[in-house]
Formats: sequence, structure tokens, C-alpha cells
Amino acid sequence: MSLKLDTRYIENMIGGADFAGVLERARAAHETVLRGSGAGSEFLGWRDLPADYDRDEYARVKNAAERIRRDNDVLVVIGIGGSYLGARAVIELLGGADDGLEVIFAGKSLSSIELDQVLRALDGKDWAINVISKSGTTTEPAVAFRILREKLIAKYGDGARERIFVTTDAARGTLKELADAGGYETFTVPDDIGGRYSVLSSVGLLPIAAAGIDIDALMRGAAAARDDLTKSGDNPAIQYAALRNFLYEKGYLVEVLACFEPSFASMNEWWKQLFGESEGKDGKGILPDSLIFTTDLHSLGQYVQDGRRQIFETFINLESSPVDVEVPAGDDGDGLGFLAGKSLNFINQKAYEATALAHSGGGVPVLSLNLPKIDAENIGYLIYFMEVSCAISAYMLGVNPFNQPGVEAYKNNMFKLLGKK
Ligand code: PA5
Repeated sequence: MSLKLDTRYIENMIGGADFAGVLERARAAHETVLRGSGAGSEFLGWRDLPADYDRDEYARVKNAAERIRRDNDVLVVIGIGGSYLGARAVIELLGGADDGLEVIFAGKSLSSIELDQVLRALDGKDWAINVISKSGTTTEPAVAFRILREKLIAKYGDGARERIFVTTDAARGTLKELADAGGYETFTVPDDIGGRYSVLSSVGLLPIAAAGIDIDALMRGAAAARDDLTKSGDNPAIQYAALRNFLYEKGYLVEVLACFEPSFASMNEWWKQLFGESEGKDGKGILPDSLIFTTDLHSLGQYVQDGRRQIFETFINLESSPVDVEVPAGDDGDGLGFLAGKSLNFINQKAYEATALAHSGGGVPVLSLNLPKIDAENIGYLIYFMEVSCAISAYMLGVNPFNQPGVEAYKNNMFKLLGKK
């Protein structure tokens, strides 16, 4: 398991002294992460988490996941932002083969259409709730929890207590008080880990384990990444952070994360939140965007190839797939008969190579991150890689990677408009 950064398409840009200077700054920012000497360093708990986590709580997570799987058809995860994106990303990438428990997500919007769909999906099923909120006061999950808890109690009466699992602050907050009063099993969002860095804590691990995914393997992959990426000396996370900032300073203000695997779509969303909320502040920040190819080659592909030159692209190149399908023999007269007998993975791989060539030829700086396999270990590795890269990159930009003051503005207005006292 490993992750390799392929810079072959931008070699012509990074050979000079200007990139060497940016790389030096990335090394210094990496040291800042290692020493814990930068802004927001009280939120560095994610850095050592893959090795240094609460073993008792981890065992409780596994145990609760077993019970959830045994007693239910569906687990409703209620949370927004960092409280759901990581779990959804991992489950959508790795959970496809599991025909056991279904995990669905609520409280990630204020849409009654979405909540109504969740309620319909629960009809006639046995279900449980995992409500996740570090603060315990976020409007979207708080409202969804009120509604879903009432339905759960209507269905199971006192037995609802055994089907509510709360993940929140260890000691403080409204949700903790509610959990204690209701007698619900609780799990902890560690004090020193912010929402978007929390997928490898109980926040992500409980839903992921409930979906039947091997969380030991996920943590093993993250631990291997920690070993590789938290030593002094160069590593691909330092190089990735350096390249992002180098390109940003050259006027490439938008980074598109692109993958040729549709089940990566939610991982794109997790990545966008991680980088967007960490870096977009003080009037600065690379705008994170994402595409799924080849689907989006038939929508935004035109813009990437030919539009305003402000984009650089980071491809996630999945070097192998757990399954493959062969194109049948024969010719439909559409000029594609030459594909007969070829594997879809092979064709997809060629589409990736062709796109990287076309876009870089069109003036889009292209980097690739090569991941050997889609499995829990490699995805754990990727998650940790992105977290450490993001912290380095944000320090290079000169912002605090771990706060999100801008999120409050809409909330303050909304509360005023809703007449909050
Ligand atoms: O990364 C973050 O800190 C945020 O995205 C939070 O996860 C999100 O706002 C939800 O907050 P909470 O877990 O307090 O409900």
C-alpha cells in the first residue's frame, strides 16, 4: 500500500529555482505540522490518531456496529459537514459488495423532500439512528434528529433507546446532555479533532463499521500513511502541497480533483470540504472542485480543455479495480468493433491517459496520485495523505487549517430571520 505522486505532465514547469523555493516552504510547513507550532495546533489530534486512539472506545464502536447490523435493516446517520462526509465517502467506495445493513444519511440539509425520502425508505424496515454532532447545536442535524427520534419512539416505544447512538463531545454540549438523559450509548468526537478531520474517529468509524467495512484495515492504511508522511524529509504530501501552492501562485486558482471511478464521487465531496473549509479564508484559497470521468468529459470536459486557463487538475488514478467486465465480440457497425474482447478497466485506463495528455496539452497543469487498489487499507492511506497535505498546504497559504469562522455568517442571519431569542 502506498500512494505515488506522478508529475510527468508538469515536469516542464517545476524544474527551476521558483519551484525549489516553494518546495522549501512546504518542508517548513510540514515541520510546523510535526512540531505542532502553527495556528490552530490545539486541533492536531488527527495527526497521531491512527496510532494513538482510545482502544476501549474503538472496541465499543465495533460492538455497537455488530448490534446495529444484527437488529436493523437500515442505519440513519444524522450529521452535516465533517460529521457525515467521510463516512459516506468510505461507504460508497467500499460498501458496494455488502448486502447487509443499508446506511442512509439525514440532517445534511433542511430539505423536506430529502427528509421525506428518508422516512419513506424506513417504511416497514427495522432501523436505528447514529446522530453525530460535535457541537450538538447544529441546526440541520438537530432538526432531523427531533423528527426521526419521534418516529423511532412511535415505532419502538422504550426500545427506541437501544437504537439511538450518539456521537458528540465527551463532556459538554446539548447533545451530550440529551444522550445522558435519554440513556443512549454515546461515542466521542475528540476535543482536539475538528469535524472535517474526524473520519478516522468514532464519527466515521461507527457508520463505516456498521456498513460491514473492515475498520481495522482502514486504520492500518492510515497508520502506514502516518509512518510514511510524518517523518522529517521529503514525501509525496509535502510535494503535493508544494505543487498546489506553486500553481496557485502562478494564477491557477481552481484545483479539480478528477477520478475515473463513479463511486469516488462522495470522496470528492469529502476532499472538497477538507480543503475548502481549511484554506478558504482571509481572502485566500485554492477553490476545490471535482469531476467524475468519463461522465463529466461530456459536460465540463469542454471547459477544462478549452475554457479560461485558471484550472489545474489532480487525477486520482486507481491502478486496479476489484472487478472487470469484458466487451463482447462482434461489431455493431459503429466503428467500435476494435474494442471487442477488451476489458472495461483497460479502456478506462486508456481514457485516463488520453485525458491527462489532452488536458495538459491544452494548458491545464496535471498531477496524478496513483493508488494501487480500492480497498480499506489504501483508502485509509489516501484519507490520511489528504489530511496531512491539507494542513501543510494551508500553512503555506498562511491560514489556520483548523477553524471555519466563515460558516457562522449564514447561521447568524438564518437565526435572526427565524426569530431566535
Ligand atoms: O469541519 C467542520 O468542523 C464542520 O464541517 C462541522 O463538521 C459541521 O459544521 C458540523 O458541525 P457539528 O459536528 O458541530 O454539528
